[in-house]
Amino acid sequence: MDVAFNVTRKCNKGCDYCYLNLTGEDLPLERITEIVESSNPETVTLTGGEPLMYPHIEDLLGFLSERKTHVHLLSNGILLDDYLSVIREADAELFVTCNEPNERVSQNLHRANREGIDVNLHHVLTKESITSLDDICQDLDFAKSLLLLYPTDLGDGKVEMYKPDEWFPLLDSAISKTQSYGIKTYFEQAFAKKGSQLEKQQPCPTGEDLFIDSDGKSYPCCLLVDKMQGSVEPTPIRITPERCYFIRNNPLPESSEYIRICPIVITDKYDGSLQFPSHLGDNE
Ligand SMILES: C[S@@+](CC[C@H](N)C(=O)[O-])C[C@H]1O[C@@H](n2cnc3c(N)ncnc32)[C@H](O)[C@@H]1O
Ligand code: SF4
Repeated sequence: MDVAFNVTRKCNKGCDYCYLNLTGEDLPLERITEIVESSNPETVTLTGGEPLMYPHIEDLLGFLSERKTHVHLLSNGILLDDYLSVIREADAELFVTCNEPNERVSQNLHRANREGIDVNLHHVLTKESITSLDDICQDLDFAKSLLLLYPTDLGDGKVEMYKPDEWFPLLDSAISKTQSYGIKTYFEQAFAKKGSQLEKQQPCPTGEDLFIDSDGKSYPCCLLVDKMQGSVEPTPIRITPERCYFIRNNPLPESSEYIRICPIVITDKYDGSLQFPSHLGDNE
């Protein structure tokens, strides 16, 4: 089993598409060490907020390094230059979101690559962001992989939701760009037709691993957040086993009310309305 920790809700960027409520709280270091010691994971993912703003990040990386735990560090890349040596010593792998060219992040990633750190990219794909993809890939063609993320939102209108006839051509075009630079590309399954086998069987893209949020509670995945931790006025949605593949096959989580921001979107018609799996039960 692997474990992901949302170590902080601090961030130094404030992306307009970000799904998180950046309240500034930190996950106590003792909670992390306690969970790692009891579950002994092979890989620990550190995310946030911006994990490099976590006050105990150096101690945490040192602790994981001593245990020889493999680390995936998700970051916006801005503060990397201050932490490259500790990241290298911990043999951590980087996953940095690049949605637009950024001189400082680019320099940091080139340095990380020169120092032998594995660099992977995340990109929240939109009609605007795709115009930067060529520049990003050309600049960072040493990246081991690139994950194209479907932009999901909490219904507050901050993020444009794509219909399948917009999303698939956008995704195809992005993949042909990234692959032409030799970068291994992954993407999230953003749509499944309602009632299809895919809808019933589709494994959750976030996997089946433990996720600990900055409130110290465990959640079935990083895309289900406690109703108090989401957007300003979230609509609480009760996620039941019927509505979520993941919790259908796993023990129920501690809290039963979640906001769903999972990128799997179920469609009734390929040209028509979108429905989140969490809403299906309300209409049936
Ligand atoms: C919340 S961020 C935390 C790590 C780090 N601050 C970063 O931006 O990479 C975790 C991942 O979620 C992605 N993300 C943020 N908002 C998103 C959204 N509305 N839809 C899809 N992915 C999103 C980011 O691009 C990043 O890959
Ligand atoms: S996506 Fe990452 S960098 Fe952007 S605001 Fe959210 S936590 Fe910060």
